[in-house]
Amino acid sequence: MNITGKTILVTGANRGIGRALVDEALKRGARRVYAGTRQPLTHPDARVTPLTLDVTNAAQIQAAVEKVASLDILINNAGVALYDDLSDRAVIEQHLAVNLFGPYSVTQALLPLLTRSRGAVVNVLSVAALAPFAPIAAYSISKAAALSLTQSLRVLLAARGVSVHAVLPGPVDTDMSRGIDIPKSSAESVAQGILDGVERGDEEIFPDPMSGSIAESWRNGAAKTLERGNAALLEAQATRSP
Ligand SMILES: NC(=O)c1ccc[n+]([C@@H]2O[C@H](COP(=O)([O-])OP(=O)(O)OC[C@H]3O[C@@H](n4cnc5c(N)ncnc54)[C@H](OP(=O)(O)O)[C@@H]3O)[C@@H](O)[C@H]2O)c1
Repeated sequence: MNITGKTILVTGANRGIGRALVDEALKRGARRVYAGTRQPLTHPDARVTPLTLDVTNAAQIQAAVEKVASLDILINNAGVALYDDLSDRAVIEQHLAVNLFGPYSVTQALLPLLTRSRGAVVNVLSVAALAPFAPIAAYSISKAAALSLTQSLRVLLAARGVSVHAVLPGPVDTDMSRGIDIPKSSAESVAQGILDGVERGDEEIFPDPMSGSIAESWRNGAAKTLERGNAALLEAQATRSP
């Protein structure tokens, strides 16, 4: 999958990793970038088409989809992370609404266009999907659930020719991680790492040095082995059925 000449939609495109993804896609010669944002956005590059898109708002998703003529790559980047201790169910629900049902709903709505282009879905998750970080426990739950969503969609959409990728970044220097004093990668370098991974066709993309340090063990580990085994089982069943 080469970014040059492609049409891409990025959610949460106004700041942080999303903004960097828009700029990196433009640098790599994207034909059009739909920038989904909650607040109005202006961008100096004429290839950018702003879309009003709160990923928890069904009417906004529908209205946005109607403005998209064709699409090669959907990047579900919008996300929320709040400190919590799991004492308030509403906080868990808030994270699930944005980080799980957001990508779910946007992907479902854009599936006809992605099927037509035999395109790609790229879900920006977190290493917290693999091991929870307790100060952001509800966030970790939502990212783990979104990883499972990504893995199932990968199998379910394969027959339509749509590839589904999980991005598992470590800490990135954006508003989201402002309060945590640990080494962080820049949003620009992470955006490059994400699009490099999409261009290579990596199922899981580890876009920064911290996450990159576990990439090999993930690819050779028990969870990936089970995922491949489940996919092979389904393939064998499909071959046997008349
Ligand atoms: N920063 C990190 O350390 C880190 C690490 C791993 C993964 N990630 C993931 O990377 C993605 C981007 O995060 P970031 O670091 O760039 O965070 P950020 O700077 O806080 O930006 C979050 C983006 O998501 C948007 N957003 C939040 N709720 C939304 C909703 N309901 N509908 C549409 N957009 C919404 C925000 O829009 P508004 O401006 O309107 O609020 C903003 O554009 C997230 O999925 C995050 O979980 C981040």
